[in-house]
Amino acid sequence: MPVFPLCRPPGVITIRSYNNKVAFITGAAAGIGLGMARAFAAKGMKLGLADMDAGKLAEVKQLFAELGHDVLVFPVDVANRDELKQAAAAVAARFGALHVVCANAGVSGYIGPLQEGTDKDWDWIIDVNLKGTVNTIQAALPHLMLNPEQSHIVLTSSISGLRVYEPSRGQGMYNTTKYALVGLGEALHADLHHLGMGVSILCPGVVNTDISNSGRHRPARYGGPFEVKGDFVLAKAAKNGTDPLEFGQWVMKAMEQDQLHVITHPEDRPIIEARHKRILQAFDACESLKK
Ligand SMILES: NC(=O)c1ccc[n+]([C@@H]2O[C@H](COP(=O)([O-])OP(=O)(O)OC[C@H]3O[C@@H](n4cnc5c(N)ncnc54)[C@H](O)[C@@H]3O)[C@@H](O)[C@H]2O)c1
Repeated sequence: MPVFPLCRPPGVITIRSYNNKVAFITGAAAGIGLGMARAFAAKGMKLGLADMDAGKLAEVKQLFAELGHDVLVFPVDVANRDELKQAAAAVAARFGALHVVCANAGVSGYIGPLQEGTDKDWDWIIDVNLKGTVNTIQAALPHLMLNPEQSHIVLTSSISGLRVYEPSRGQGMYNTTKYALVGLGEALHADLHHLGMGVSILCPGVVNTDISNSGRHRPARYGGPFEVKGDFVLAKAAKNGTDPLEFGQWVMKAMEQDQLHVITHPEDRPIIEARHKRILQAFDACESLKK
């Protein structure tokens, strides 16, 4: 049985190839999901693309058709488990297998201090960013388990899954869901990597997408559309962010190199080092609690 070490020896990079394999990507009608789809298609991958925006998805299907790629599209909300399962099964049936799942759909959610957030704000962001990710993994896993050593799970967390800005920038709900995805990815790695399955947790900084306007598409059951009020830093930063296609190419390399934590934007390293130092200091302080 092949052995897949938890940590590679330093300097050793084992290249896994995903050329011509089959991927299912959520949140694929725009932004990072579309960037990954374009990068994967360039490697000959066959694609199933899901998104709740049926109009944009139809445009994306047309775009790929013009480039000579036959992709399957699924206008589904990641909150809908049954539709996701049907979509993943349809991709596997059409292309003969499913090797890669990118649980990517996500929203910026409520922006503001947590003490002013509502129950519905929490419901929306947890349903999409956390439960939607779990639903996507659940839909894909039975198919990936047929060829674990050729398969890969990609979770789109965020650099916001590794640090909280202090003073607050009002992203507490987003931070909560993205930290959860880091835990989910590490747990999936613990359960699946010894079978040969790759897991990558994407922790991007700013990528040039429309995520800061995701409130415009909030479904009625969570309170309907809204505009972000005030000075939302990400909205201003996005236009100088990474091109989503370039980001998608980085994801392909991270998969090939079997990277678990995928860091693409180094700017917040000092904040994360300070956080880790605080946690280690809490270990140093543990005896002082027991005196
Ligand atoms: N853009 C950034 O700077 C950045 C940084 C870190 C992490 N991320 C993460 O990247 C992922 C993709 O975001 P993006 O930046 O490309 O944003 P985006 O808004 O451009 O794209 C998100 C896509 O997800 C779709 N979507 C939203 N809710 C959905 C649902 N319930 N069901 C199905 N599809 C749904 C949208 O229709 C949209 O096409 C998100 O998980 C986001 O949190 C983005």
